[in-house]
Amino acid sequence: MTTFAYSAAGPASVPCDVLVLPVFEGPEPGPGVREVKGADLLAHFRDAGLTGKLGEQLLVPNTGTLGVAAASVLLLGLGKRAEVRAEELRRAAGKVARQLAKRATVATTLAQAVGRQPAEAVQAVVEGHVLGAYRFERYKTSSQEGPDRLERYTVLGAPRWDARSARAAVARAETVATSVTFTRDLVNTPARDLTPAALAEAARAMAEEVGLEVRIWDERELAEGGFGGILGVGQGSVNPPRLIELAYRGAAASQPPIALTGKGITFDSGGLSIKTSEGMETMKDDMGGAAAVLGAMRAIALLKPKVNVVAAIPSAENMPSGSATRPGDVLRHRGGKTSEVLNTDAEGRLVLADALAYLAEQRPRAIVDAATLTGACMVALGEDLWGLFSTDRALARALLSAGEAVGEPGWELPLHRPYRALIDSDVADVKNIGKRYGGAITAALFLAEFVGDVPWAHLDIAGPAFRDKAGDYAPKGATGVPVRTLVAYVLGEASARPRAKRA
Ligand code: BES
Ligand code: ZN
Ligand code: MN
Repeated sequence: MTTFAYSAAGPASVPCDVLVLPVFEGPEPGPGVREVKGADLLAHFRDAGLTGKLGEQLLVPNTGTLGVAAASVLLLGLGKRAEVRAEELRRAAGKVARQLAKRATVATTLAQAVGRQPAEAVQAVVEGHVLGAYRFERYKTSSQEGPDRLERYTVLGAPRWDARSARAAVARAETVATSVTFTRDLVNTPARDLTPAALAEAARAMAEEVGLEVRIWDERELAEGGFGGILGVGQGSVNPPRLIELAYRGAAASQPPIALTGKGITFDSGGLSIKTSEGMETMKDDMGGAAAVLGAMRAIALLKPKVNVVAAIPSAENMPSGSATRPGDVLRHRGGKTSEVLNTDAEGRLVLADALAYLAEQRPRAIVDAATLTGACMVALGEDLWGLFSTDRALARALLSAGEAVGEPGWELPLHRPYRALIDSDVADVKNIGKRYGGAITAALFLAEFVGDVPWAHLDIAGPAFRDKAGDYAPKGATGVPVRTLVAYVLGEASARPRAKRA
């Protein structure tokens, strides 16, 4: 386990295996580079043909001549000074994280590359390192990369910085980043091992560890509670469905909570409307929304914002079998609304409908769901961006700016009411598919049927939840999006003054 520390010591004086110094693109060196008196590091960097673009690297061994206490200096390109924000720090720190994990001690002036908001910069560096160092190796009998050795990672700040708030930022980053890796582990775990019951047990263990209230609903309790959507999707699998309920109390009981939910399909074969084998390859990730809500709840429990937050996460395995839901079947959801299942592969909305209706009964101040819901959203926005649908302007703005601030951007798509007619059913209140065009919108309109008048936002994360190639601080596979967005949103709501009570 790596210890993260903060210090305002001068970079030349810090003993460590590697001192990481940023270099800007352009004439200026980065913070700390000039303090290395024994060599013209910048000249070395330029001689190697490097210009300071984000992610460029040059390792300079200290043969005793550099005049620093470090055994080596790693020069790290950061891009143009004026364009460096928290996200660039996260990306730069993430890019070198694997390499640094092989050293015992590291110190870096990276956080000083952003002039304003030092706490945010410190947090970004630590987050970038932890997220970039992440690997999913549970099923590898031997690590190809060799063991991680990093004992101590020291973020060096400027002497004028407030050390207390910088240390708090280090702690916050560790909490947030380990909550993201908790989510990534769940998403990367194969569906053979991560059944709905296993997901529920992982949630229970997490809740007990961090002090959240937890209740797991089994299939018998779901039947008694009228959760026909969750049961209908799960009935083709030998692994029965669950509903995972969590509560965090950070404010008076009289304060309506923020309510979270996420799609927890532990494997989506499509059911009887079966997918192609290629279409199924990544479908262990179809519980990415559920796992992100669990990760966010973990972080919230540890960060203790002054707000109440509840979660109700539906989980089922969507399998074809003699007991599976058939196209044409009608399901009765929590609260009594019915849906006609014309395509068993549009299952996420069926399980979410129950959870949304259940949460709306509790009159929360807002409901936010995250779901790997539609391929159509990926067609619209690509793999980087989540799609946002909302019935409430302030809520939409809060989520979009939270995502932007943490480097998990989303983009709003319209909840275009005229398309509601596309999901009219001949036999039930609503049907579970529209036509091909506008598929992300008709999916969102289906969900909207179940939230009543509670302000609601839906994040379609089919694109960004899972990557098919590595990013700067996420390897191939689960990303943990949108854990950091949800956490930033909830923290923002806790510090904002409570909105006027709705009539
Ligand atoms: N889990 C999928 C959506 C998905 C597809 C996520 C690819 C990530 C990558 C969802 O359950 C699904 O199958 N949606 C269908 C809906 C259609 C049948 C109306 C889709 O998008 O094709
Ligand atoms: Zn699905
Ligand atoms: Mn599906």
